Amino acid sequence: MMLYYIREYPEQVHHPKEDQYLFARLRDRTSKLDETLAELESQHTQGEALVRELERALTRYELEGSSAFLAFRDLVEKYAKFYFSHMRLEEEVILPAARRLLTPEDWTVVDAAFAGNRDPFAGADLKGGLEKLFLLIVNIIPAPDGLGPAI
Ligand SMILES: [Fe+2]
Repeated sequence: MMLYYIREYPEQVHHPKEDQYLFARLRDRTSKLDETLAELESQHTQGEALVRELERALTRYELEGSSAFLAFRDLVEKYAKFYFSHMRLEEEVILPAARRLLTPEDWTVVDAAFAGNRDPFAGADLKGGLEKLFLLIVNIIPAPDGLGPAI
């Protein structure tokens, strides 16, 4: 479910909108971020490839069992590090620059694009779908003592 969500929402909806609206508007306002924006767009493409690798590794683990677990775990850790690094760059460089440089008209366009995001689990009700997914995931994660759900 988590891989499905990552593929359907961040990869197919959120990242293309960052490229098409937020990053494009920033390029209109400055050329100083060109290198960083190109790197982030490249990371969006790399992220898609990593999700495909994760799906293959998960399938291999489901078919082969414990002998394929370490490879899957290593890919999960690789993806998590990659994604945190990507988000850090956006949050520490791109978003502060956007706050400084984008005009009210830019924000109207960017806000409208992101307001139209859909949630593959709940149609237009993004928040409700995410909460349901969160609860589902939390309830299947074992507690540290292995005796039941984490909450
Ligand atoms: Fe991004």
